[in-house]
Amino acid sequence: MKKKLNVGLIGYGFMGRTHSNAYSQVNHFFDVPYEPVLQVVCGLEENVAKDFAEQWGYKSYTTDWHKVIEDDNIDQVDICVPNNMHAEIAIAAAKAGKNIICEKPLALNAAQAETMVDAIEKAGVPNLVSFNYRRVPAVTLAKMLIDEGRLGKIFHYRANFLQDWTISANVPQGGMATWRLDVKAAGSGVTGDLLAHCIDTAMWHNGQIDSVCAMTETFVKKRMHVETGKVEDVGIDDACTFICRFGNESLGNFESTRYARGHKSLYTFEINGEKASIAWDLHDLHRLSYFDHSDESIVRGWRSVHVTDGDMPYMDKWWVPGLQIGYEHTFVHQIADFLENLAEGKPASPSFREALATQYVCDAVLASAKDKEWKTVKKA
Ligand SMILES: NC(=O)c1ccc[n+]([C@@H]2O[C@H](COP(=O)([O-])OP(=O)(O)OC[C@H]3O[C@@H](n4cnc5c(N)ncnc54)[C@H](O)[C@@H]3O)[C@@H](O)[C@H]2O)c1
Repeated sequence: MKKKLNVGLIGYGFMGRTHSNAYSQVNHFFDVPYEPVLQVVCGLEENVAKDFAEQWGYKSYTTDWHKVIEDDNIDQVDICVPNNMHAEIAIAAAKAGKNIICEKPLALNAAQAETMVDAIEKAGVPNLVSFNYRRVPAVTLAKMLIDEGRLGKIFHYRANFLQDWTISANVPQGGMATWRLDVKAAGSGVTGDLLAHCIDTAMWHNGQIDSVCAMTETFVKKRMHVETGKVEDVGIDDACTFICRFGNESLGNFESTRYARGHKSLYTFEINGEKASIAWDLHDLHRLSYFDHSDESIVRGWRSVHVTDGDMPYMDKWWVPGLQIGYEHTFVHQIADFLENLAEGKPASPSFREALATQYVCDAVLASAKDKEWKTVKKA
C-alpha cells in the first residue's frame, strides 16, 4: 500500500504542466512508496486555475498561494512561478514544514538564495530544485561514464544554450508571457534562465567552478513593459559568454543567447578527457556521442549511443530497447528520485544548497561581465 502524498502546485504554466504530468505518471512507471495526490493548484487567474484543475485532476484550485501553505492537508509544495516569487513561497513552505520542489533558478540572486537555504535547512524539510536536464538518461549516462573514470583526466567542458525568440524589438517585457525579459521578475536574462541549467549539469559532471570571466550584452535596450504600458530600460542580459576554471583544473567555455537565429532551444555540451570525449545535444536527447581513444585506430571514431537499453539510466522503467523517451520524462524521473529518497530519508539532489552553488556562479558571471574582470566563485 503506497503512502499518499498531498501535493499543492503553485503555477499552472509551462512548468506547472510538466510537474503535473510527472505526478500523474510516476506511479505508472516507477515503484516508489508514495502516491502523489493532486490536491490543489494555484495560479493568477481563477478560470484558468479551474480549467487546469479539471484537466489535470486537481481536487481544488485557488488564486492565493498562502492558502496552499496554510493547508495542513498539503504535504508537498511545488513552486512553478516566476523567479521573483520563489523565495517568499519557499520560505513560507519551509516554516510550515512542507516538502518543497522549486523550479530553477533558485532565486533572483545569491543573497536571496542564501535566505532560502537558511530557512530550508533550519526547518529540515526535504527539498529539490528542478534542474531536470540531469535526468535525461543520456546526460545521466554521461555522469556514470565520467565517474567510472572512462574519460580520464578532464581538460575541457563546453556548453551552449541557444535560442532566438527575443530578436524582435517588438517583444515586450513583463507580464505573464514575457516576465523573463523583466529583470524584476527574472533576476537576470539568459544567465539565470539558461546558463543556470548548463552550470548545474557541468558542476554535477565535472565538479566545482572556481573562477569565471564573462561578457554579456543586451542587444535591445528598451522594450515596452506590459504592466506599465511604457517603454522602459531592459535590465536583463540577452546574451552571455563566459570562460571558467573548474576545481579539477579543467577549462570551461559557456555561451547562451536568445539571439542565435535558427535555434529554438539548443542545449549542447562536450567534455574532452585524456582517454575519451562525450557530447550531447538536446535536439537529439536520447543519443550520447562518445569517442574512445583506446579503440583500434582503423575503427576509431565518434559513436552515437542510442540510450534506450534496459541497463541505461531510467530506461528499464519505460518501453523496450530501441524506443526512446523525451523531455517530459525528465520530470517524471525527478519526482521518482525525490520520492525514493524521501522514503529512505536521504536528501534529494540537486538540493537548495546545490542550487545555491549554481547561483553563486551566475552571480560571479554577471559581476565579472559588469566589472570586466575575473571573479572568484563563492563556495556553497
Ligand atoms: N526546469 C526547466 O527546464 C524550466 C523550464 C521553464 C521554466 N522554468 C522555471 O519555472 C518557473 C516558471 O516558469 P514557466 O515557464 O512555467 O512560467 P509560466 O509563465 O508558463 O507560468 C507561470 C505561472 O505562475 C503563475 N503566477 C504568477 N504570479 C503568481 C502569483 N502571484 N500567484 C500565483 N501564481 C502566480 C501564473 O499564473 C502561471 O501559471 C520559472 O522559475 C522558470 O525559470 C524551468
